[in-house]
Amino acid sequence: MCLDENTLEIFNNIFILLSIILPLLFIIFLFYDKKRKKKFGYYLLSLIIIILIIYFRGEIMNINICESDKKINNTTTTKAVPAINSDNYVGKTSKGYTIEKKDGVYFIDGYLIVNKSYALSEDFIPENTHLKISDELCISCIDKEAYKKWLIMKNDAAAIGLNIHISSGYRSFGYQKDIYNGYVTKDGKDIADTYSARAGHSEHQSSLAFDLNSIDSSFIATNEGRWVNENAYLYGFIIRYPKGKEKITGYKYEPWHLRYVGLNLAKKLYNDGKWITMEEYFGIDSKYK
Ligand code: DAL
Ligand code: ZN
Repeated sequence: MCLDENTLEIFNNIFILLSIILPLLFIIFLFYDKKRKKKFGYYLLSLIIIILIIYFRGEIMNINICESDKKINNTTTTKAVPAINSDNYVGKTSKGYTIEKKDGVYFIDGYLIVNKSYALSEDFIPENTHLKISDELCISCIDKEAYKKWLIMKNDAAAIGLNIHISSGYRSFGYQKDIYNGYVTKDGKDIADTYSARAGHSEHQSSLAFDLNSIDSSFIATNEGRWVNENAYLYGFIIRYPKGKEKITGYKYEPWHLRYVGLNLAKKLYNDGKWITMEEYFGIDSKYK
């Protein structure tokens, strides 16, 4: 048997009211009714009524909500986990996760994905950011939810004497193009591709990623770097390019680059310190075409 969600809610409210009002009226009536002698028996009766009402409410609440009547939950609308919509369907990953494309952005299982295989469109500018994006480069133009978690993380680190700060936050498509081209001029394309993303392929354009402190491999040898590596997942962040996963992510180890994915996924990817990449988890590549 199934009921629609609204009917179930009405039943629930009726039972709550009944379980409070009826026994209360009964007890008040007995209290003022001087003629009745066996008051204990009546109090017992009112207790039994309460128990029966609670029991029947439990039985009603066990009835399933009909599938067609389930309310669609539209509350999780962050850039990290938007609602799935079949109009945006692209395909499945090798691990069976759904790939979608919406407004020039790829999502896998609802998580925004940017890597060498999945690009953000040139005109994609995130909207839901802590500071509104009005420039090519912006340290605090971070996704609102991610920024909230970042502030908690920063405060917790400060409480134990560690100083972490964002050294690079949002970067526009155009800005990324310029820095990547600068690295190509300096080191050549093959080397630049191991540490800098081409325009459209950087997570910094998504507002869900940022770099901490010194953008240098020595960061992991600092107290801050070690703490971030062990604790960032508790705030929903991952080390996006972990050590030993260079062939999978396509980038060298970046202990300073954090990506916000939310607590659920971050816990899984942390994997007791043996970081799993988004590529491994979802079953996708990170390779330029
Ligand atoms: N350093 C990372 C890969 C970026 O350029 O986004
Ligand atoms: Zn970075």
